[in-house]
Amino acid sequence: MQSPVYTTWTLKYKPKSLAEVVGNKEAIEKFGEWVKSWEKGVPKKRAAFLYGPPGVGKTVTVEAFANDFKMELVEKNASDYRTEDAVKRFAGLASQFGSLFGGKRIVLLDELDGLTGTADRGGVKAITEIVKTAQCPVVLIANNVYDPRFTNLRVFCLLIEFKKPPAGEVAKHLKRICSLEGIQADENALKFIAQRSEGDIRSAINDLQALAQGKKRLTYEDVSWLGYRDRQDTIFNVLRMILYGKTCVGAKQAADMADVDVDMLFEWIYENAPAHLTDPHDLAKAMDALSMADVYRGRIRLTQDWSFMRYVIDYLTAGVAMARQNTKIHGWIPFKFPERIQMLSRSKAERAAQLNIGYKIKRKCHISAVRATKEVIPYLRIIFKNNAEMAAGLAKWLDLDQEMIESLVGSKEKAEAITRLLS
Ligand SMILES: Nc1ncnc2c1ncn2[C@@H]1O[C@H](COP(=O)(O)OP(=O)(O)OP(=O)(O)O)[C@@H](O)[C@H]1O
Ligand SMILES: [Mg+2]
Repeated sequence: MQSPVYTTWTLKYKPKSLAEVVGNKEAIEKFGEWVKSWEKGVPKKRAAFLYGPPGVGKTVTVEAFANDFKMELVEKNASDYRTEDAVKRFAGLASQFGSLFGGKRIVLLDELDGLTGTADRGGVKAITEIVKTAQCPVVLIANNVYDPRFTNLRVFCLLIEFKKPPAGEVAKHLKRICSLEGIQADENALKFIAQRSEGDIRSAINDLQALAQGKKRLTYEDVSWLGYRDRQDTIFNVLRMILYGKTCVGAKQAADMADVDVDMLFEWIYENAPAHLTDPHDLAKAMDALSMADVYRGRIRLTQDWSFMRYVIDYLTAGVAMARQNTKIHGWIPFKFPERIQMLSRSKAERAAQLNIGYKIKRKCHISAVRATKEVIPYLRIIFKNNAEMAAGLAKWLDLDQEMIESLVGSKEKAEAITRLLS
């Protein structure tokens, strides 16, 4: 089975120009003025320190700026700052504004939060030295500029705060992505995703991709049932820990993080395993584990003995995680929302209609309406779809109206054919 390779929408729709960056206009302007001030000579603050929550566009702003003004951008991140020596190795980059070919340079030290522990103090000191003597704009980025480790460094920097953009702006951005993807999306569906992401544009786009990719239309119903949930422990992380888990312990921990119940988690794994375990043997093993989980789930239902729950969890998490043996990881595959559950939520009106038929059956057959919808309607559907005459007889006996007949046959024309036989 060949699985398609996807690109993430965060990458596909990453702003190439400042004009495309959402929100934080003031911060962006302040940053732009500071870089341009270098044209007139070395300014008092040789570094700008951009800080703020994740996913609001700090990195993207610097990249888009360099692109707009045709500047050379030298990017460094956490892995380059492990030791003082490592930092010193690239210090020379900041010693010249113009390159040999006339272009201007920006040195970006991204993800400074990645510097951890006392061993890195030397790293921050070395970065401070670079900043003090820099001959080109040095940009520092971290989530928390007020971390005590940056106390000395901060003095030499122009601080620029990036804030969470309002949900309305995020929703507008999502709308643009949808129209480029040919998806017709309800305003309130996009608003919902935007609000849920709490200003994190990256995670809003990721959620949108998971919910909408491949669809023609995205409705409020498609997204609303998700409810609000803790963004740190989204179901996506849980699924990742299970479907890509390397240890039983890790996979089991995922179940604790999940903010959905076990039945729901089962649906999520069941729906996503085939796309993520592309090796047939691995998938078969995962499905075996799922069916064992289901067996124990059944026992709980039957006996009400909840001590079986530990086996359900073990099979669902460790069992599925250990199934991965041969599947190779190709690119990024999005997680899908369980179709069975989506169907349930989408057809609420439909279920109400069914229950009405159930009441009609109840009257004639003396069984509960719920039991009738579960046990009789499926057969009625088959009969109604295949035998108009018999359907007409049953419709008369049960006293079904036009709408009910239509819901059983699933087409207007066929329903009309049946009612014609009635008259
Ligand atoms: N303001 C924005 N406008 C448009 N897209 C954005 C914006 N902010 C984030 N994105 C999207 O999210 C992705 C990540 O953004 P970026 O790396 O700039 O976030 P960040 O603020 O640097 O976050 P972190 O603190 O986690 O590094 C981008 O590739 C882009 O797709
Ligand atoms: Mg970043």
